[in-house]
This record gives sequence, C-alpha cells and structure tokens, in this order.
Amino acid sequence: MSKPVFNFDDPDFVAKYVEKGPPAFTPGHAGLLQMTGVLLAERAPADGHILVVGAGGGLDTRAMARFAPGWRFTGVDPAAKMLDLARVVLGDEINPRVELIEGGVEAAPEGPFDGATLILVLELIPDDGSKLRTLQEIRRRLKPGAAFVLVDRCDDADSPDFDRNIDRYIAYATASGVDPDTLGNARASHRANKAMATAARDEALLKEAGFSGVHTFYFAMNWQGWVAYA
Ligand SMILES: C[S@@+](CC[C@H](N)C(=O)[O-])C[C@H]1O[C@@H](n2cnc3c(N)ncnc32)[C@H](O)[C@@H]1O
Repeated sequence: MSKPVFNFDDPDFVAKYVEKGPPAFTPGHAGLLQMTGVLLAERAPADGHILVVGAGGGLDTRAMARFAPGWRFTGVDPAAKMLDLARVVLGDEINPRVELIEGGVEAAPEGPFDGATLILVLELIPDDGSKLRTLQEIRRRLKPGAAFVLVDRCDDADSPDFDRNIDRYIAYATASGVDPDTLGNARASHRANKAMATAARDEALLKEAGFSGVHTFYFAMNWQGWVAYA
C-alpha cells in the first residue's frame, strides 16, 4: 500500500481505506476477521476486554465489536494518524467501547485481557528481538489460557518464489480495484522490508514467547493466521 494522504473529513478518503485498504490486499479479509471473533469468543466472556495491537485503521476492532456487542477494547498503535482514522471508522456507536493509546504494546495497560490480536502488523516489526518482545508483552497481558490471534504476511525476499508471490499480490490487489499507482512500488518495498519473516519463523516466535496450542486457522496466498493460548 502506498502512503495515504490523510484527510479524515473527506468521506471518500475513509471509504477508500475501508474498501481499498486491507480488504483489497488480504484475500478473505472479512472472513478472517469473523473467524478472529469466533476464536477469541471460545475463551473470552460476553463482557470480555480485548487487546488490539496495531489497532490503526480500526477495521479489526470494528469487526470484533460487531461480532461481540458486549466486548470492550484497548487498542495501541504508534501511528497517531492511523488511530485518528480508527476513530472515524469505528464511529459514534463503537467508540465508547474502545480506548485507543498511541504506542506499541508496551503502552498498553497490564490487563489482564480476555483476548488479544496482532493482525497485519508483525511484518512491520524488525526480527532483532523486537518481534519476540512484542509477542512476549502481549502474552504477559493475557489471562492464563486466553486466546491470541496473529495474522501476518509471510515471505522471504531471498526465496526463489518471492517474485512469483509478489506477482500474485499485485494481481489480487489489481482485481480488487487498487489503482496501479498504489502498486507501482510494491515489489521494491516488500523486497526492502527486512522485517518480513517466514511462517515457520512466526510460528517459532509464538512458541518462544510462551504461547501454547499454536494452530493455523487461516492460509491465503502469503498470509497466514494462527490462534494460540497464553
Ligand atoms: C496494515 S496496518 C493494519 C491495521 C489493523 N490491524 C488492520 O488489520 O486493519 C498496520 C498497522 O500496524 C501499526 N504498527 C507498526 N508497527 C507497530 C508496532 N511496533 N506495534 C504496534 N503497531 C504497529 C501501523 O502503524 C499500522 O497502523
């Protein structure tokens, strides 16, 4: 995705993010978020408190809030503009159930929370100890046995399949109506993203962070989703 020009007073900007942002890139995005609600609800009570790490844009929180009308949310994201966008996307109906805090997971209260998510974020966090620390900090804030949903785009820039995978990424987004200008830099920016990790690495990190019962529930081209338990 290219860098958006933020204008939250412009309904076209907000609509473009909602329609041509993550849902246009990540295959099965709506179903993925619905499954997230289902998986968290297996362990979270009807009045549960959910931690959303990387809550910018608000789409994941909005889907979970609609799925479980009794849940409250604390969302963290280091990008203030993405939190502003989340407030617009969540709207008057959902905002009263949501606390949004600028920062990474360290900025989140201690909880303990009844569930947590990290959706389309881990590929942005360097694998220099920061990915592991993020997962450990999430786990530390969960009640024992609570569910955690991780969804990540996984690849390896040195893999012989990398270019084929990017071709598919671009073809999928194009078919979703994303304009060619937005996709022009996709190959170079993904190749330059040193933080991107393979699915095997993500799974190993989940286990190293102390999560148990790690289970793949979603797999779509290069995206993979896991549920795991604190
Ligand atoms: C592609 S967006 C996904 C947003 C949302 N989770 C969703 O699925 O619609 C990635 C978000 O991760 C945030 N982010 C980047 N680094 C982060 C970090 N270390 N901790 C938490 N969020 C981070 C970005 O600011 C951005 O809002």
